[in-house]
Amino acid sequence: MTPTVASFPAARLRRTRSTPAIRDLVRENSLGSSDLIWPVFVRDGSGIEEPIPSMPGVVRRSVDKIAEAAVEAQALGIPAICLFPYTDAGLKTEDCAEAWNPDNLTNQAVRAIKAAAPDIAVMTDVALDPYNINGHDGFVVNGEIVNDATVEALVKMTLAQAEAGADIIGPSDMMDGRISAMRNALEQAGHSNVMILSYSAKYASGYYGPFRDAVGASGALNGDKKTYQMDPANSDEAIRLVQRDLSEGADMVMIKPGIAYLDICHRIKSTFGAPTCAYQVSGEYAMIQAAAQNGWIDGEQVMLESLMAFKRAGCDGILTYFAPEVARLLNR
Ligand code: PBG
Repeated sequence: MTPTVASFPAARLRRTRSTPAIRDLVRENSLGSSDLIWPVFVRDGSGIEEPIPSMPGVVRRSVDKIAEAAVEAQALGIPAICLFPYTDAGLKTEDCAEAWNPDNLTNQAVRAIKAAAPDIAVMTDVALDPYNINGHDGFVVNGEIVNDATVEALVKMTLAQAEAGADIIGPSDMMDGRISAMRNALEQAGHSNVMILSYSAKYASGYYGPFRDAVGASGALNGDKKTYQMDPANSDEAIRLVQRDLSEGADMVMIKPGIAYLDICHRIKSTFGAPTCAYQVSGEYAMIQAAAQNGWIDGEQVMLESLMAFKRAGCDGILTYFAPEVARLLNR
């Protein structure tokens, strides 16, 4: 598209910014509660909401409280909730068996949400890090993160989540071949309507720090995740990953982190036209909250502006810890 602009004063571009009504009329993008996926942290116990110091305003909830949160989210018009478990250190092992335990925290929470808020979509995370004594997303053998054995474990985890009632499976592990392995297993087990939202372009990022506190993986992690998560310098590689995941049967794809990777969001949406999500990750959330708490920025304005940026870049959905707060604001 080549924009045509008359010369001044025939063109005064301020005219279409002159009043709230006209600004509403010419606005190109919109943000609504239906654009949001709310990531929440599950812990054991009952009646518990435990604050996470590095994520002000975010709590770890026991399963009963997760169900209450899902009811609230559904009422706010948030279409999906995404579960991350805070696993007791005693359940973290080298073989990560808790990951596919049908009664692990995630699977308990899926069932509780389905009973309490049947209309909200439940998304689950597939990766071994919450269960791994090494803190990695895959099995560690002689210091190497092994691919194929990890994929077999991820398939078991996927099936346990689908069995519990998950609607959307979110593989965040970045192993190769996992999408087709998971898709085939789901089809064979009769879960043909269970979707896969692939974390296709997930970067090895410093912005995940607070999340690792939230799931209790910070102390556990040996080394870094650079042999499986992407190099922040790369863009073409994101295209190859998305192309690969879509061709293996991913229903939706994700870019993660968010704001620092809007160029990737835009490129992926315009190249493939597939349902595309971005994850405004824990570090992005923490930075906005910290600056707002110090009075250095207007937290509400920056929250809304950051989320609109994802829509402008072409994203269909946004995973954000701000979800209920934004939805309350937008529904007012
Ligand atoms: C791990 C996983 C991570 C996040 C979601 N799933 C962290 C990591 O890769 O170390 C990060 C989310 C966030 O920072 O909000 N499979």
